Amino acid sequence: MPVVGARFAMPACRVCSQSIAPFISLGRMPVANAFLRREAFADEFFFNLAVAFCPACGMVQLTEQVDRDRLFHPDYAYFSSLSAGMVRHFTSYAEQVLREHASGDDPFIVEIGSNDGIACRHFSAAGVRHLGVDPSENVCAVARAKGVQTLCRFFDEEAGSDIRRDFGPADLIVSANVITHVPDLHTLVRGVCNLLSERGVFVIEEPYLGSIVSNTAYDQFYAEHGYYFSLLALTSLFARHELEVVDLSAQPTHGGSMRYVVARRGQRAVSQAVEDLRARERESGLHQHATYEAFAGRILHSRDALRSLLGELKRANRRVTGYGATAKSTTVTNFCGLGPDDIEYICDTTPGKQGTFSPGMHIPVVAPDGFHARYPDHAVLFAWNHCAEIVAKEQGFRAAGGSFIEYVPSVGLMSWDRDGLAAPSPTGPATRDS
Ligand code: TMP
Ligand code: ZN
Repeated sequence: MPVVGARFAMPACRVCSQSIAPFISLGRMPVANAFLRREAFADEFFFNLAVAFCPACGMVQLTEQVDRDRLFHPDYAYFSSLSAGMVRHFTSYAEQVLREHASGDDPFIVEIGSNDGIACRHFSAAGVRHLGVDPSENVCAVARAKGVQTLCRFFDEEAGSDIRRDFGPADLIVSANVITHVPDLHTLVRGVCNLLSERGVFVIEEPYLGSIVSNTAYDQFYAEHGYYFSLLALTSLFARHELEVVDLSAQPTHGGSMRYVVARRGQRAVSQAVEDLRARERESGLHQHATYEAFAGRILHSRDALRSLLGELKRANRRVTGYGATAKSTTVTNFCGLGPDDIEYICDTTPGKQGTFSPGMHIPVVAPDGFHARYPDHAVLFAWNHCAEIVAKEQGFRAAGGSFIEYVPSVGLMSWDRDGLAAPSPTGPATRDS
């Protein structure tokens, strides 16, 4: 029998403890990255995916949180370095943080959630003292093989103190696409406070709530992402720990991310960019419940539109597959009720995902060879955040008369000549280049 439910039911905001109510419920959902073999179907784990906005502190969060041991384990399937776009992004990211925040004498850099060393290897190559921290043994082993000093552990309050004791204070702590995964943000931030030097900075980069809302990118909602950050909510969280956001910049990753530079209160000047975004968030209503109710309406509309498009294509006997067995695809396929009858298979370059089935809906995951050997008529672009990279290399699909189906920011057959490869904008249209 499937196990239903999560270990922690969550009646209150996990940041400020005020009561919250979901603005959208996406129903029964498996863990997004839990691609599985046929033998595991009977024991698959499900929870209720619902998202709430806390009117008291502004944090958007899942109402039910899955035990982290179910999410991140020795076989964690995600390797950052498999995407060329991400490799490029993290190369420039590492160069920039080294230049801007680690120019002092013998700086020490800690990365929380160092994955396969995609960023840390640049710190290592530059001869800078560094430590990557990650809870999944398989990605740690890959990072170590690249010369990255890596500690296999969840980063929390105690880890922050232990690292300071063993290595000294950190001048720079970085984390990208990580803090959204952490169940208790306060213990992570206390760990940062324990480890950070007096003038040090904490640089974080996360998918930006403003982009998720404006793009109707509801597929960012999944078990591994417990929080969806705005500047307003982060300001409130950090204020509880005597920290403040002192600078920020929009990034193109994950369809629109934000990089925040955080320092101890009063240690650094606050840039104009911070003031500007705070004003823009107020103007766009990210602090108001009504904004999320309208967003929920758009999510339901998007689901209906995708179902109806796939239904039409099926009636017209078109072959439809999926492209990119992303965590996002798990939310879309389960929420929209799309199984192997609707999507023949999903192709993906990650060796560990090939030969498995998608969580919940059990769509087979195959290597891209299957796609290239016999192109379908259409492929749902689940890896839409890597659109430019994929379009560039799938010109054979185009030549065969195929087309991608997009659903962010709206549902339809994607034009091969679309000019949607837009520059990043925190509140503008979806960005599709990494
Ligand atoms: P992400 O959206 O979390 O970065 O995951 C991207 C997924 O898409 C990952 O499983 C790898 C897969 N992928 C492909 O299969 N082909 C590609 O060309 C790219 C860029 C990604
Ligand atoms: Zn709250």
